[in-house]
Amino acid sequence: MADQNLDNSKGQFQSRFGFLMASIGSAVGLGNLWAFPYKMGKNGGFAFLLIYLLMFATVGVVMMLTELSFGRKTGKGVIYAWKTLSNKYTFIGFLGWLSPLLILGFYCMLGGYCLKYSIANLGDIFGAGWGVHGTDSAQFFTAFYSSQSQSVIFTIIFTALTVGIVLGGVSGGIEKFSSIAMPALFFMLVIVIIRSVTLPGAGAGLAFVFKPNFAVFKGVGWITVMASAGSQLFFSLSLAMGIMITFGSYMKKDDDIQQSSVIIPVADTLIAVMAAMATMPAVFAKGLEPGQGPGMLFVTLQYVFAEMGKAGPIFGFIFYALVFIAAITSSISLVEAVGASLMDREIAHGQKAHRTKATLIVALIITIEGILISLDGLGAHGILHIFGQGTALDVFDLCSEGIMMPLGAFLTAVVFGWFTPNYLDDDIEQSGYKFKMKKYWHFCMKWIVPIVMGLVLVGQIDTFFGLGIFS
Ligand code: PHE
Repeated sequence: MADQNLDNSKGQFQSRFGFLMASIGSAVGLGNLWAFPYKMGKNGGFAFLLIYLLMFATVGVVMMLTELSFGRKTGKGVIYAWKTLSNKYTFIGFLGWLSPLLILGFYCMLGGYCLKYSIANLGDIFGAGWGVHGTDSAQFFTAFYSSQSQSVIFTIIFTALTVGIVLGGVSGGIEKFSSIAMPALFFMLVIVIIRSVTLPGAGAGLAFVFKPNFAVFKGVGWITVMASAGSQLFFSLSLAMGIMITFGSYMKKDDDIQQSSVIIPVADTLIAVMAAMATMPAVFAKGLEPGQGPGMLFVTLQYVFAEMGKAGPIFGFIFYALVFIAAITSSISLVEAVGASLMDREIAHGQKAHRTKATLIVALIITIEGILISLDGLGAHGILHIFGQGTALDVFDLCSEGIMMPLGAFLTAVVFGWFTPNYLDDDIEQSGYKFKMKKYWHFCMKWIVPIVMGLVLVGQIDTFFGLGIFS
């Protein structure tokens, strides 16, 4: 098997640090800085954190190990990795390939929003006309997303920046960019946390996050919390998207893969909790609603910055720039995962991999999606109303994060937990490492992951379609 990895024409990570920064960069994204705090807000604060941590240990770490090792062993991106295992599993690979392709459509739009917001806050620092300029934050947001030309332009800029980095290759583009961007992001987040927790009245926000409170578990509420935490965990760790499989295929053979499978989720969760510490105290200090949903990032927080007086735009700029960095290190991994399978196809046909061609094909598809979703303006223009969803973004999200992702994860667990339980052993144990968590990994893959993913799937369908199964 090892010789399959000899074809390095797709690229390879140069250092372990670079690999970790790229993987953590993929994992840390809008999911951490935006979705985690607001889902926590909606699902009872501390109770959500607790369930999240439990799933982190039983599902997140074991699936991370599975995907990285699966990629490293086969040396392939998602479709061909599954095909290498068996032709009958190729369809699981397709699920994991299509999912990031769909996510990219709205991820690039949201990344574009972050760019717009960091530029607007920068404008405010200088009192420029292109700043937020004291406009009410809700109005500013509505005006922006319903302006089709502005949304399309920022989506295209963000997409182009993403594609530009991926064209630079695995080590020259993705690894290099992430190795600088991720430490910068961490540093900026610390600055925002310090500001947020020192605001008068911030204590209530910290208590909300860290003080035990289980009111939300009453009745069947815990199932909803579990479904929400489970899907959040997968999205946040970039699992079931073919990403960690792809990155695994660029890993060095002597990397301690078990250790990496713990480091990546720990770093990701740390940043998610830090994001909650950066946002919740500020939200509570201003007497705002923590479970706001999508409006949280662009309305509530912008309002908080506007309320901070002169220093507000500086913190606003730092904050939105950091969210932008988080988004772009994620979107490059999404593009890479989709493009890698196109390159694998060339290799399978005995050709050399053409990175530029593959990346530009992906770029074309996601630009079309991004334009479509931007034109919809978060539902303001009603471009795509299907499956009972309000906005084009929801339709793409339902198909990818809502259905394909939990389904793909469920199938992955069934295959590695039940059908081929020893397939990854030799990869994990190579270079003299011992598969220390083998028993634990088997148990979790066999029982916990399929049950949790099954629940997430039902929970998602239930909430999206309002079936009321759990109420
Ligand atoms: N993990 C990223 C986040 O939390 C998003 C993402 C999902 C990136 C899936 C790649 C794949 O925002």
